[in-house]
Amino acid sequence: MNWAGRAVLITGGRGFLGRPLAAALGARGARVQAVGRAEVDLCDRGATLALFKQRRPELVIHAAVQGGGIGWMREHPVESGRDNALINTHTLEAAQACGARAFVGVSSACAYPRQPATIPFVEEELWDGRPEPFNDSYAQTKRLMMALGDAYHQQHGLPCAFPMLANLYGPGDHLSPERAHVVAALIQRCLAQPEELLVWGTGRATREHLFVEDAVEGVIRCAELALQGEHLGPLNLGTGQEVRIAELAQAVARACGYRGALRFDASKPDGQPRKCLDVRRMKERLGWQAPTSLDEGLARTVAWYRQALAAEAS
Ligand SMILES: NC(=O)c1ccc[n+]([C@@H]2O[C@H](COP(=O)([O-])OP(=O)(O)OC[C@H]3O[C@@H](n4cnc5c(N)ncnc54)[C@H](OP(=O)(O)O)[C@@H]3O)[C@@H](O)[C@H]2O)c1
Repeated sequence: MNWAGRAVLITGGRGFLGRPLAAALGARGARVQAVGRAEVDLCDRGATLALFKQRRPELVIHAAVQGGGIGWMREHPVESGRDNALINTHTLEAAQACGARAFVGVSSACAYPRQPATIPFVEEELWDGRPEPFNDSYAQTKRLMMALGDAYHQQHGLPCAFPMLANLYGPGDHLSPERAHVVAALIQRCLAQPEELLVWGTGRATREHLFVEDAVEGVIRCAELALQGEHLGPLNLGTGQEVRIAELAQAVARACGYRGALRFDASKPDGQPRKCLDVRRMKERLGWQAPTSLDEGLARTVAWYRQALAAEAS
């Protein structure tokens, strides 16, 4: 697609995903408007409508989230649910009201039921059961956004795509321990070279990890289809590779050159037992698959963390 001159508004445009997304679209010639809390509080309906009507984007990519790592989610179920319900509702409403031609709402694999009938998770079973309790309120706001997107398409003809992302990792991730997701947290702890690396849970739970640059490319491909008028709705976006937490911890240790012992603390919860996305629909609709292997992605992420932590310390 020719992106030259297209007006794209990216909410959360300075976040972990939003920043490289804005850079990638800018490099393709789009007129990108990356907005964050400095420009608008998306919890404020009037301010959101006013900003979108003033900016008049052709495409809205909604990557803002009131979020954090596992610890933050567990301690803030109200903010996770209340704020994201407001943010998602207002952003969709404002996109339609300002005349945007398409909407991409970044969603999450967390929206799936805790134990769906089929693993890897298939889009058809998204609604068949309640999500993992610790992130239930956050997950429900993703479900609300995706259901509301169908409604906007049905009533107003707004094509929407909702890529449901696996856990992200990569350069530019958060440094603060409260906001770090599992890979970021493990890397930071490994780089501190402790005598032993303590890993929460039994190590048997599985997860799927998507390199942030691959997520950017997948989201852009969703946006291209939405701009062509296709209402994709919820679509898995991941690698389709299910990795045990124990294997992940070993891979992170290798990437960090950490040679100490790994110890699994089984008294801590494993969380969702298995998490992995079926990416057949993604490959078919986007004509694409995530190219970065876990080892390559980890090597690039560790290199970035070394630099970022050194810069922070100096
Ligand atoms: N990270 C992951 O592993 C992961 C996995 C699956 C799905 N996702 C989804 O991917 C998307 C992007 O996540 P991320 O990791 O990039 O998040 P992030 O780094 O926390 O960035 C979120 C951005 O949202 C903005 N924001 C938060 N509250 C706002 C408000 N009230 N008004 C306006 N802006 C607000 C923040 O703006 P400021 O810059 O001004 O603070 C921040 O830059 C989200 O939809 C998330 O659910 C992420």
